[in-house]
Amino acid sequence: SSALDQGYSAHFYFRKDFIWSVSTASYQIEGGWRADGKGLSIWDKFAHTPLKVFNDDNGDIACDSYNKIEEDVAILKQLKVTHYRFSISWSRVLPDGTTKHINEAGINYYHRLVDALLAANIEPHVTLYHWDLPQALQDTGGWENEAIVFKFRDYADLIFSRFGHKVKFWITINEPYNVANIGHGYGTAAPGILRPGTLPYIVGHHLIKAHAEAWHLYNDTYRASQKGIISITINSDWTEPRNPYKQEDIDAARRVLQFYIGWFAHPIFNGDYNDIMKTVIRERSLAAGLPKSRLPEFSLEEIKRIKGTYDYFGFNHYTTVLTSPVNYGKLQGAGLIADRTWLDSGSSWLKVSPFGFRKILNFIKKEYGNPPIIITENGISERGPFNLNDIHRSYYYEKYINQMLKAYLLDDVDIRGFTAWTLMDNLEWATGFEERFGLFYVNRSDPNLPRVRYVPYRSSKPKTVVTKQEKQLNANSYQNKFKMQSQASES
Ligand code: BGC
Repeated sequence: SSALDQGYSAHFYFRKDFIWSVSTASYQIEGGWRADGKGLSIWDKFAHTPLKVFNDDNGDIACDSYNKIEEDVAILKQLKVTHYRFSISWSRVLPDGTTKHINEAGINYYHRLVDALLAANIEPHVTLYHWDLPQALQDTGGWENEAIVFKFRDYADLIFSRFGHKVKFWITINEPYNVANIGHGYGTAAPGILRPGTLPYIVGHHLIKAHAEAWHLYNDTYRASQKGIISITINSDWTEPRNPYKQEDIDAARRVLQFYIGWFAHPIFNGDYNDIMKTVIRERSLAAGLPKSRLPEFSLEEIKRIKGTYDYFGFNHYTTVLTSPVNYGKLQGAGLIADRTWLDSGSSWLKVSPFGFRKILNFIKKEYGNPPIIITENGISERGPFNLNDIHRSYYYEKYINQMLKAYLLDDVDIRGFTAWTLMDNLEWATGFEERFGLFYVNRSDPNLPRVRYVPYRSSKPKTVVTKQEKQLNANSYQNKFKMQSQASES
């Protein structure tokens, strides 16, 4: 059985040890923003700045998970997940971001959570950084200042040493792309810096180095005794040429993809920034009269140190965009639109386009050397009046999981796990509580913030996920999976 088995038959066909998980992030659910010695994070500050978050919502209380471990674990049990992905709030354990002062009350909260999960037979999958940098570190330059690389490593060191005997699944950083672009380019997320152009690339550079240092630390110091796995979570849409017969549109799709998934995946999986990014950014920088490229360079030693710092490909995916070339705006020189026939969601950027999931999984397999992949987020939002009948979300998950199944069964993509975003409706960053991605509804008009399961839509008959023709076309991959499946069930 699995988190998402109600209404689907698909899960049967994945690996026996498949991870079925659901995800949250500290700032989005915890609340307790000043409880028991917690320091402030950049999100506390951002959300307390008028007009930054829709409706001036903030995470002061959020889902009050800081005080609701029992409730959260109870709903995880209801979902029958094998794993739970959550993040640690850096400023809850290190109020000023440095190890000079450790907040034991904060450490203790995560111990109680991890212990409750393990007692419920649910494996913790822990993200070290899901966007809530300690404000004290922002005050000394945050991700723009290279000193952050070793601050992050020290923080990781503390967490591995305190939790590594219990936690076996780690993520260093969630979505470096969004940290760099949204936080430091558009400024619509904390720290809210509007400096597109050079700054996102500097921030991205330090994020990659920080990740690599944390990975090496784990690898050298903790792996042998703690025996866990650690990686980074990279997000990307799939890019589809607006007109698949037009070379310019095809080129635009390739370009945008290299600026998106490729920005972080290429240095970590293949070594160094990809050639498309290097060439395009350099040309544009020189054309703008700059003395050199806006994209920083890695030294040869750095390239070597960063390459291979992964145990799996942690991947967040939600949607697809259509690409065609334009000469203005975005550095990649491409316009991004959605197809008007794709179903909507509660988020402007998210359209239901499941075919792109299979395509980008195949892209990862080919481009990055067939790594084991854990989907660390996938899901859909609603907004406006709420309805407990979860037809829209059930439809989305069914279609996306079936595309993932095809990638696994037919295309031999090494998919090890799937994580739904998100456990319960929570603070959807700058759009506040308005956009709801949860598998559980949180009734915000009740001070107890009760979690109520949305009712998944069950199709009357199990769907035919893979057609006869598809099975024939991909006979090798398909038959192998069945061998594995029957061997696993014999043993
Ligand atoms: C983030 C989540 C966010 C979700 C939906 C991802 O970008 O990791 O924190 O809530 O997508 O927007």
